[in-house]
Amino acid sequence: MVVSRGDCSIRAFKYAPSGLEISDDLIARTKETVNALSKEELMKELQNTVKQLDFSKKMIHLEKMSAVGLLTAGIAHELNNPMMGILNYVQYCMEHTPREDKRYPVMKDAEREILRCNSLVSDLVSYSRMEDTEEKGYQLENCSILLEQTLSLLSYRLTESNIQVRQHLAPGLPPVLMNPNQIKQVFLNILSNAADALKPCKTKWIDIRALRDGRFLKIVISDSGPGILPEILHKIFEPFFTMKPTGKGTGLGLSISQNIIKMHGGNLECRSSPGKGASFEISLPLSAKGKSHEKKNTGH
Ligand SMILES: Nc1ncnc2c1ncn2[C@@H]1O[C@H](COP(=O)(O)OP(=O)(O)OP(=O)(O)O)[C@@H](O)[C@H]1O
Ligand SMILES: [Mg+2]
Repeated sequence: MVVSRGDCSIRAFKYAPSGLEISDDLIARTKETVNALSKEELMKELQNTVKQLDFSKKMIHLEKMSAVGLLTAGIAHELNNPMMGILNYVQYCMEHTPREDKRYPVMKDAEREILRCNSLVSDLVSYSRMEDTEEKGYQLENCSILLEQTLSLLSYRLTESNIQVRQHLAPGLPPVLMNPNQIKQVFLNILSNAADALKPCKTKWIDIRALRDGRFLKIVISDSGPGILPEILHKIFEPFFTMKPTGKGTGLGLSISQNIIKMHGGNLECRSSPGKGASFEISLPLSAKGKSHEKKNTGH
């Protein structure tokens, strides 16, 4: 239905995106409101509504996060001890089994799966405790060294999959005040996603650029993968959003990464179009936190 007034018209939908039917009464009242408002007032109303929608989205995100927090505190507590117990038993059996024994690879598989459960639990824990660790463990670090360390962690996987990594790091980049473990986790999440996306591709490269952009250090990680559909692009930073098969992804990698970068006063964005790869841009402030750190150190 289109509600018009002079040079202004809006389309009123019979159904909300949630699927709920919008009553005729509400549509009639909307029509009356539109008729009573000037074009400028109507624009203001619309802008306010958009702001409210934005706020609601943020609230839903916060609610999801606090739900994750409660859930993980319980899960981590209940699961960690028995998991460590199972890991110890399996490793004990492995120590007492010759490698050529046909049961050895089965034990190895069991060990790998327990370690995967363990890493899932610690992912969830770091996600829910993100705010507690704010400002803890900050130090001045050089991003190029962290990138190097992350690439060496992934080197086996990258070489095995024939992925070419190109680095273009501007010379003399200043260090950034950061929690290096958290920033390494961000690099690892983005690079692992790129490696996953490149699996079915013929041309496989990951391009890493780092440069200074005013008060920010920018790190752009691009790949020659299949890219991300526009209808999915806005969801990839949501907790638990994954396109990977069950058991392969938790959908927390990018959500954790975005939280980490936001806590550093920076920004993490993704640009992509299908067939043209994906590009993740990390911006980290060079000054803000650096200044408070210098003050603490010098006592001024
Ligand atoms: N470089 C990329 N190319 C294509 N799609 C990507 C890329 N990076 C992320 N995605 C998409 O974004 C989704 C969310 O990524 P995210 O890292 O948050 O979760 P995940 O990789 O599915 O699981 P995990 O929690 O194990 O990281 C992925 O499932 C994938 O569909
Ligand atoms: Mg991931």
